[in-house]
Amino acid sequence: MLKIEDKLGRRFEKLRISLLNSCNFSCIYCVDSEFDESANIEIDKNGTDKPISVEEFTQLIQAVHRLTGLKSVRLTGGEPLLYSNLYPLIENIKELGINDIRLTTNAFFLKENAEKLLNAGVKSINISVDAIDNKTFGKIIRRSDTSRVFQGIEAAINAGLNVKLNAVIMRGKNDSQIVPLLDYATELGVKIRYLELMKMGHLYHSENSLFFSEKEILSTIQDKYQIEEIKREHASTANYWRTSNGGVFGIIANESTPFCHDCNRLRLDSNGYFFGCLSNAHGEKLMPYIHNDKLLAEKLKGLLLLKQAVKFHGSELSMRNIGG
Ligand code: GTP
Ligand code: 5AD
Ligand code: SF4
Repeated sequence: MLKIEDKLGRRFEKLRISLLNSCNFSCIYCVDSEFDESANIEIDKNGTDKPISVEEFTQLIQAVHRLTGLKSVRLTGGEPLLYSNLYPLIENIKELGINDIRLTTNAFFLKENAEKLLNAGVKSINISVDAIDNKTFGKIIRRSDTSRVFQGIEAAINAGLNVKLNAVIMRGKNDSQIVPLLDYATELGVKIRYLELMKMGHLYHSENSLFFSEKEILSTIQDKYQIEEIKREHASTANYWRTSNGGVFGIIANESTPFCHDCNRLRLDSNGYFFGCLSNAHGEKLMPYIHNDKLLAEKLKGLLLLKQAVKFHGSELSMRNIGG
């Protein structure tokens, strides 16, 4: 299969797809406004979104796959478990010959989906968990009860899914939770990654006073544990360390240690827009080309080769639009 390589020798092996913009959480780093908790759970499945159809998603994924030889697809959102056609789409992706299918979720609906996802062939799940303490976590995700997240995490591990935890660390909000989160992950035998806050969406023009750096995260952990760095794998978003008590944690430091030089990711959103990079606020609309394989391939090829290699500088789009 033809594998496109760009000027920097980067290959595009991973496609991240935002299946819908809607989310039943309203995390403070993702959403500006208050959220009405009463509107959750029974949220009208696809929310106010009008995502492209499963067939359209499949055609676009196939076009990217033909050019790049994708190794994995990660389904994100918004909250991907709210997407009503999730399982049919997973089937279609497997039929394209892509068997490494991953999901990034807030875990609210994970308890009832863990076994189903495993049976559908999903290999790896990343779960956002920003604090152990209910009050601290609840203030971040703007919900009073966070217990379903932990039930979801534990159900996914028990089902045999490969689980990684993600925690966005913000000064004064949850920096006190760095060690409790690490201890929780170590006890469960899973990896945790701390994320530096990225200036996305409503944070784009902010001063980023909540920013808590990789260096500060490391020194917080070193106050309790000795740590040893693990060699970074090609194109990994995170740098990893092992702790003296057997835990493994990573830091995704978009500000402090950007990883654009070997980035192998591409993105597609729920309206059929294509993004080479998280920093792109304006994706390219692929829908006009969807019925013409040749044109679609040409358009995509042009866009792939335009993928930037600049330091991540934030985006006016929030994660729920562009997909984590
Ligand atoms: P896989 O390698 O596909 O398994 O993904 P991952 O484990 O890195 O995925 P996850 O969805 O947990 O993403 C974690 C975070 O990594 C995102 O929220 C971003 O902060 C960061 N990230 C992911 N992709 C990119 C990218 O293309 N560019 C930049 N700058 N950051 C990214
Ligand atoms: N900065 C850092 N991480 C963010 N996420 C969402 N918005 C931001 C932001 N502004 C995280 C979520 C999830 C991952 C996909 O992205 O917590 O773990
Ligand atoms: Fe939802 Fe994820 Fe945004 Fe939180 S960060 S509001 S879980 S899309």
